[in-house]
Amino acid sequence: MTGYKILIVEDDKKMNQGLLHIISKEGYAAQSVDSGEKALEKMKDTQFDLIISDFKLPGIDGMELLKATKRYDANILFVMITAYGTIDTAVCAMKQGAEDYILKPFDMEEMRLVVKKTMEKRELVLNNIRLQHQLEKKYTFENIIGTSEAMMRVFKIINYVKDSTATVLIRGETGTGKELVARAIHFNSGKASKPYLPVNCAALNENLLASELFGHVKGSFTGAISDKRGLFEAANGGTIFLDEIGDVCPGLQQTFLRALENGEIQPVGSFERKTVSVRIIAATNKNLEAMVEQGSFRQDLYYRLNVVIIDLPPLRERKGDIGILAHHFLKQYSVQNNKKIERISKDVLRLLENYTWPGNVRELENIIERSTLFEVSCEITQDSLPPALTISPEVSDKEPFSKDMNSLEQLCKKHIFKVLEMTRQNKTQASKVLGIDRSTLWRIMNRLQMN
Ligand SMILES: Nc1ncnc2c1ncn2[C@@H]1O[C@H](COP(=O)(O)OP(=O)(O)OP(=O)(O)O)[C@@H](O)[C@H]1O
Ligand SMILES: [Mg+2]
Repeated sequence: MTGYKILIVEDDKKMNQGLLHIISKEGYAAQSVDSGEKALEKMKDTQFDLIISDFKLPGIDGMELLKATKRYDANILFVMITAYGTIDTAVCAMKQGAEDYILKPFDMEEMRLVVKKTMEKRELVLNNIRLQHQLEKKYTFENIIGTSEAMMRVFKIINYVKDSTATVLIRGETGTGKELVARAIHFNSGKASKPYLPVNCAALNENLLASELFGHVKGSFTGAISDKRGLFEAANGGTIFLDEIGDVCPGLQQTFLRALENGEIQPVGSFERKTVSVRIIAATNKNLEAMVEQGSFRQDLYYRLNVVIIDLPPLRERKGDIGILAHHFLKQYSVQNNKKIERISKDVLRLLENYTWPGNVRELENIIERSTLFEVSCEITQDSLPPALTISPEVSDKEPFSKDMNSLEQLCKKHIFKVLEMTRQNKTQASKVLGIDRSTLWRIMNRLQMN
């Protein structure tokens, strides 16, 4: 924690030198001045972390210095020294944003502890800022890989819309990067420091989803033991990501429409309506237009969502991106798994480009991660690829006629195994790839005695 810059403002020469000595001894980079005016001057060329100032000073007093400091940079911490019997000044200083105060007379040990405590707080704040920056960096465009024309179009739209409040609808098959794009929009916008809250609309039933999004009041249903704030309220000023919007049941669509249209929300069981300011990004892998025609998705809600559309093409339609995506994941997982694999062999690249990628980028990522683990040489070879990729189409076409592939059930079993392997046994993802819901997958697996 040493190395922080601390400025002491004290006109009493003896006290000034005493403080300078004890604080420097702790390893901080300490400087001292004898007036508020000189302190303000010093702040222009040095970025201090903490100012320790006496309240009573010859020119501007400690309180004015505190206000000026916070106006100049609210992140600079401030500790006020006040004389015994002037506790009101100390309270006032705290109200003006001082982190702490110390009453005169004090011994140097007391001062040492106050400084230590304040600087620990500084460390926490800085760590938070660092984490926030890491988070922002993680979701900048740099992490969305792609040079195909289709991806260029996507980047262009993200750039156009990131700073607006327009609702964005992201469409694409499973694993094409819908959530990645939603995060990129938020973390590249002016709202990056505000909340980004993702909600999977398919994961909850109607009542739970309503309560999760809009909140509820105590007693509104069994189990509602206290009032609960909904995610719309929690995301105020930021972004809410409504994932799988096509799965919102018709009963809730009207409520969604109101929230989207004028930011109006009503907690479950309450008569009170609240207004929030939240940017909406929604995503779906369903065909909403067809659902509107069938009557399972409200037309007005569809129009509300259909302001800006981002279409993420499936990987098989942008084969040019496969190589760079594969290398990107190779780099990432080699570092993560402490392996020194530098290349992907030409054969493997050809196989990757010829595969159909039902699970899109997620599937490619999983395969590269798996290969990074299994590969023993310094390049990814066919040996570390899962069988699904290495069986050439001609061979697999002949497979149904081989001795152990003589029934549809066996084919089905083999395909499910393959998809489960690719999704690392994640049944939710596997069911998406297979185009069935999770419970159907369970039923089939039970029937085929695969569990
Ligand atoms: N263009 C891309 N560049 C780098 N990584 C990507 C890209 N697209 C997707 N990914 C990665 O693939 C995985 C799946 O992406 P994501 O979760 O955003 O997909 P999705 O479209 O939301 O899928 P689902 O419909 O199944 O929820 C993530 O690990 C993501 O980081
Ligand atoms: Mg998703």
